[in-house]
Amino acid sequence: MNIGILGAGNVGKTLGKGLAMTGHRVLISSRDPHDPKHSSWKQEAGESAGISSFNDAARFGEIIIIALPWSCLKDVVETIDPVYLKNKTVIDVNNAVHFDNGPRLLLVDTSAGEIVQKLLPECHVVKTLNTVSDKIMSRPTFKEGTPIMFISGNNIPSKSQVSALLTDLGWLRIVDLGDNRQSRLQESIMLACVISEIQLQSPGSAFTLLTH
Ligand SMILES: NC(=O)c1ccc[n+]([C@@H]2O[C@H](COP(=O)([O-])OP(=O)(O)OC[C@H]3O[C@@H](n4cnc5c(N)ncnc54)[C@H](OP(=O)(O)O)[C@@H]3O)[C@@H](O)[C@H]2O)c1
Repeated sequence: MNIGILGAGNVGKTLGKGLAMTGHRVLISSRDPHDPKHSSWKQEAGESAGISSFNDAARFGEIIIIALPWSCLKDVVETIDPVYLKNKTVIDVNNAVHFDNGPRLLLVDTSAGEIVQKLLPECHVVKTLNTVSDKIMSRPTFKEGTPIMFISGNNIPSKSQVSALLTDLGWLRIVDLGDNRQSRLQESIMLACVISEIQLQSPGSAFTLLTH
């Protein structure tokens, strides 16, 4: 599939490279696609991956991934021609979080996922991957067992599309938490993951699920 990624930071580059390596065509995007800071990524990610403006990545993608700091997400999304986004599946990996004086959520009685869905009412937003560090987003392997990845969103076909991409990235056990409101749960779970990583001095942690 053609994947357009809004963002060329830690998450955009990790997912861009991971998806390109599994046969997808990817455009990540930056305010300055020609900035030399992106050269090494272009070499590593290979010929099916490139870097462009935000608008070009949105036009290119059959599926769009938003991977932007919360502080600029709305402003960037509002610069994109809505025609390029209409009816598309949008993966929301974003967290509205403050890290000063211990990590904490910025939003009360709502979530980043719900706000992204309201910002893009004609898109099918699926929240996922926000609970784990970019270091383990692609090819997660743990000697303790198979990690789970949560998804949520209102549109069932979009959640199936996103589950297939997660499988390509190496997430073999996916738990659908329900509709877009469940983003709140995923964003709270993210805090538990971040705090566990700090306590355990681990570069990346994920949950597994033990069921009867
Ligand atoms: N990093 C993680 O481990 C992780 C894990 C889970 C979820 N998340 C979430 O994923 C999202 C992206 O995280 P990240 O670590 O990839 O972020 P990041 O590396 O800090 O930045 C991502 C991109 O945002 C662009 N950017 C920064 N400030 C901007 C501005 N004022 N206007 C327009 N673009 C701007 C950067 O642009 P340029 O290329 O133009 O400089 C970069 O392409 C966040 O919402 C974060 O909470 C992160």
